[in-house]
Amino acid sequence: MTQPTFPRRSLLLGSGLALIPVQRAFGATLATTPQQTEGPFYPVSFPADLDNDLVQVRGHAARAMGTVLHLEGRVLDSSGRAMPGAMVEIWQCDAQGLYDHPRQPGRERRDQAFQGYGRMPADADGRYSFRTLKPVAYPGRTPHIHFKVASAAGGLLTSQFYVAGEPQNERDFVYRAAARSPRDRERIEMRLQPAPGLEAGALATSIDIVIG
Ligand SMILES: [Fe+2]
Repeated sequence: MTQPTFPRRSLLLGSGLALIPVQRAFGATLATTPQQTEGPFYPVSFPADLDNDLVQVRGHAARAMGTVLHLEGRVLDSSGRAMPGAMVEIWQCDAQGLYDHPRQPGRERRDQAFQGYGRMPADADGRYSFRTLKPVAYPGRTPHIHFKVASAAGGLLTSQFYVAGEPQNERDFVYRAAARSPRDRERIEMRLQPAPGLEAGALATSIDIVIG
């Protein structure tokens, strides 16, 4: 397993964005992250570089095209307990809307400097973090980031993150099927904030993944 090379950061703590699980009352449960389709572009083979920095591919001098997004959060169970060791995978298209996948028309034009897929195990506090791109739309879909989480106990969640406030969301059939309530939307909509302190021009978001 390739270890994450991008430094962990408690980047949003104190900014008001961090989603701290709170047990409001004994027995309270958190809304779980809705399951969504894996879609047709889960990798059939994995890149040589598998770490949690998708913007920089080992051996490439250039970084990926697009707006950098620092994505972080915690993997929790529905009681708000951290799930250390849960394997978090993400995959998404490049800044041109192209996946690194045999089913992708125009795959040969994809940005070779974008890793497209990454994974990391949640740490002892259940925390995960990725340096990736703000997702872009491609024909038929609103911007989204695919993710899968496999808990140490064998639970599996497959879902997608969206950009809060993106006008195309409401026309996207996958989004509409998942975003049935405000509690659902809270689990799948990333609220993006400028993060110039982290990296010039970058955005950041914190969103927890809750497995039932
Ligand atoms: Fe997709």
